[in-house]
Amino acid sequence: MHPLELTSESLQKALDLTSRFVREEIDSLEEQPSADVEGAEELARTFAETLPTNPKPLEAILDRLRPAIRKSFNTAGPGYLAFIPGGGIMSAALADFIAASTNRYVGVRPPAPALSQIEETAIAWLAQIMGYPKTAGGILTSGGSLSTLSAIVAARETKLKDISKGTLYISAETHYCVPKAARIAGFRDWQVRRVAVDDRRRMDVKALAHAVEADRMKGLKPFLIIANVGTTNTGAIDEIPRLVSIGRSHSMWVHADAAYGGFFRLAGAGPGLMPEIEECDSITLDPHKGMFLPYGTGCLLVRDPENLKRAHSMDAEYLHDVRASDSPNFSDLSPELSRDFRGLRIWLPLVLHGVNAFRDAIEEKLMLTRWAYDRLREDSRFEILDEPQLSVVAFRLKGEGPTADARNEDLQRRVNARGRVFLSSTRLDGRYVIRLCVLSFRTHMDRVRDAVEAIRAEANAAEDVTPDR
Ligand SMILES: Cc1ncc(COP(=O)(O)O)c(C=O)c1O
Repeated sequence: MHPLELTSESLQKALDLTSRFVREEIDSLEEQPSADVEGAEELARTFAETLPTNPKPLEAILDRLRPAIRKSFNTAGPGYLAFIPGGGIMSAALADFIAASTNRYVGVRPPAPALSQIEETAIAWLAQIMGYPKTAGGILTSGGSLSTLSAIVAARETKLKDISKGTLYISAETHYCVPKAARIAGFRDWQVRRVAVDDRRRMDVKALAHAVEADRMKGLKPFLIIANVGTTNTGAIDEIPRLVSIGRSHSMWVHADAAYGGFFRLAGAGPGLMPEIEECDSITLDPHKGMFLPYGTGCLLVRDPENLKRAHSMDAEYLHDVRASDSPNFSDLSPELSRDFRGLRIWLPLVLHGVNAFRDAIEEKLMLTRWAYDRLREDSRFEILDEPQLSVVAFRLKGEGPTADARNEDLQRRVNARGRVFLSSTRLDGRYVIRLCVLSFRTHMDRVRDAVEAIRAEANAAEDVTPDR
């Protein structure tokens, strides 16, 4: 047999070894530190190696891989409360394994219609979760950044004749993937207007209306408003109905960046958190955040799939055998042609667990966040930046100036050094702020309690070291 083809027996052995390896990793997540990067760069250098010529046994390769995985931020573990967690559910990993192993083609529909349909159905379910009508559509992407790029391109193609005159509106809290996507989509940085935020870090609607009007007076063409549905810093949600209203009155496209916040719509209180999101022309979702899928799963939903298609579809002679004319080809809706069968990693977990399992997990995250917020609020040493709108508690030790910033940095370092939880930080109004973000499906009360205990205990220690800094 060709060396690249495993015999049935050696395949079984490889599967057994790999599944044992994965099981050991997953079973030990609870005990693994929430981050461990000491010596990680030295280890990384051992992988800067020459092209291998001869085979090596899988056991040896897995033995090398284990420390490479462990020397990292433990983004899969329950203690990861930094940036925007997710965890990575195993049923999605199984779906990936099946998809990659069977390796069917879903770039266009005719080569595997049922698999394309599975992916379309998964997209339709996500659209339903967001309250979109049945006529909506979309595309699964590798993440929020790519979804945003396609949304901007669709808005550009739908609303603008002269790209050099177009202006788009984001808030001071909008994720940087939006201006980045705008640049890639051909806009100069000045065409991206940054609107101020209010005291809850939502876009200041009056300032937006002003900016749009002022640009129109200058002969520019305001064409796109980006609403935040969960900012990365604090989880702030813009006032969507008011942004939609401004958008409609100027024939603008309104896009919702719900990469972080979107799946909170599953919660009982969810629709009320983001009223009228279903009125937006497009929505970015990140199933690798709020649906807890492995990294590499984003989604762009559009109310009118024709707009996405017009912006992305193109024909080629060599595809005539396989392009469906009467049903969507994914290649008509995104920059990609060949792509992985990512629909399965959404479809399989939803079928296997049912949507209620995801709803319960999201509800739990809201409850845990509220609990952490209440505990930290009780402690007069802390200033909490806002009541959580989603699942971020942004807080700092009270005090102003560089000394207070240093103390907060020290507090974060001390909490993280304990290895039970891992927190990240940001700067708000020029001040150092620590973020605790609860979103991994593996994070439960025991770990959030550990987080709060660590923060409170280390707050005293951090105070003690400040005079020397
Ligand atoms: C609010 C928000 N939008 C967009 C993105 C970009 O998404 P991705 O990292 O999947 O490209 C993120 C990432 O954290 C985010 O938090």
